[in-house]
Amino acid sequence: MLLHSAMSPEPAATNPLREGLSSRALPAPCTIVIFGATGDLTHRKLIPALYNIAADGELPPGTAVVGFARRDKSSEGFRSELEAANREHSRQGHQDPVWAEYARHIHYHRSEFEDPEGYRTLGEQLAAIEARRGGPGNRLFYLACAPEYFRPILARIAEAGLNRAPNGGWARVIVEKPFGTDLPSAQRLNAELAATFPEHETYRIDHYLGKETAQNLMVLRFGNAIFEPLWNNRFIDHVQITCSETLGMEGGRGAYYDASGALRDMVQNHLLQLLSLVAMEPPVDLSADGVRDAKINVFRSLRPLVGPEAVARNVVRAQYTAGSIDGRGVPGYREEDRVRPDSMTEPYVALRLHLDNWRWEGVPFYIRMGKRLPKKATEISVHFRKAPGVLFNRMHVEMRENVLVMRIQPDEGISLRMISKIPGANLRMEPVKMDFHYRTSFGKASPEAYERLLLDAMSGDATLFARRDEVETAWRFIDEIEHAWHETAAPPPMAQYPAGSWGPAEADALLAGDGRIWRRL
Ligand code: BG6
Repeated sequence: MLLHSAMSPEPAATNPLREGLSSRALPAPCTIVIFGATGDLTHRKLIPALYNIAADGELPPGTAVVGFARRDKSSEGFRSELEAANREHSRQGHQDPVWAEYARHIHYHRSEFEDPEGYRTLGEQLAAIEARRGGPGNRLFYLACAPEYFRPILARIAEAGLNRAPNGGWARVIVEKPFGTDLPSAQRLNAELAATFPEHETYRIDHYLGKETAQNLMVLRFGNAIFEPLWNNRFIDHVQITCSETLGMEGGRGAYYDASGALRDMVQNHLLQLLSLVAMEPPVDLSADGVRDAKINVFRSLRPLVGPEAVARNVVRAQYTAGSIDGRGVPGYREEDRVRPDSMTEPYVALRLHLDNWRWEGVPFYIRMGKRLPKKATEISVHFRKAPGVLFNRMHVEMRENVLVMRIQPDEGISLRMISKIPGANLRMEPVKMDFHYRTSFGKASPEAYERLLLDAMSGDATLFARRDEVETAWRFIDEIEHAWHETAAPPPMAQYPAGSWGPAEADALLAGDGRIWRRL
């Protein structure tokens, strides 16, 4: 049994930890043009995120939204659809006065993505909004549509000259994932972007970087003098990153997912980004390039897994078979809606990675990601080397290692497992856990990742966005594994696990071979 002690005090009426949590200066107002405005992302994430920024008093007055999409509808109709979505998905309760003020600046623009005329009239609409608002014509283009439209949209924006903001303003672009499906497609997309927007105005979004706990990784590592001296292969035995989801292929997702798989959908971006924050050297400063220079060195030191044998030794891919989640029967992956019955796409992947640099020589990083696992949780655990058993070895207790756990979601927080004496005359020992929970310590729910990232893009801060070289280096690593799976004569096998279990036995064997086990979540 784990004893439990809290590191932080009970929340008080005035929480001292919240003092000094400053809001930053408001960015200049801009017009956000969302391509794919009738889609799921806009309704569930983008519009509620902007609403929450407004409710927190951080949306610059005059900020406008133009929804660009193909369906026929009026601005009024668009606003009432968004209002319904906001009531359902907003982090904070829907308040009519806040909504009314925010929605006043939301407009709908109907056009095909390829139609030059639609961009000419968009230009007129932007000019009218900018004239009413006054000041520089700042524009933030958000590509939230299917990726096949990225190229024509960028080309039309450039032809219409919308990427040159008037009156000394700026023009930026945010690109949603998937950012390519392999290295060549990511390079093509990067070239198309570079032809329309300079790199410093290009924001490749990875919503995991906007999660509060992901940002706190850097503060934990570099704001606390006690960790950094231990953060290397002398003291750390290994690191685990787990992302488990209960969802399968609901809502017609099967078509997209079956062409992607866990490795491309989550590892290439979100999980390698988390890895880079755990493993990077201290950046020279906190500027966007300072941080991203430190991260790219992690990507560059990933030891490549080349060829089917290396991939089979270090990577496990698997599909779920029928099983149950929360007592409800669910189908196997190949029986899911819009998944091919002979699919060789993996909804689960586990990897053993090595970083070839001085700090991490000999320290494995284990990553696992799976759909239809027993619970939704993402965490990073840093497993320290065990204390030598010399003093306590006659007591026949197994010495457990210290583990520092960073819970990315849910129940965001940090815990540290230590060995402690059980009170009493005998010397008996048990692991205990010191626990820090964001919610209770700060008395405040963390903002959604999209809130932080939208505000950053409006403020011109690209620190939490992926740079061109990061994306391409990550794809280079992933492509080798995909190649071994799909383009070799004797590809590594596809394992199986029942839906609702913790993944295939082969993933346990991957760690067991190293004398380790996966942490229980
Ligand atoms: C998306 C993936 O990028 O991230 C999804 O495409 C995944 O497959 C999702 O479910 C997970 O995000 P979150 O924030 O719910 O952990």
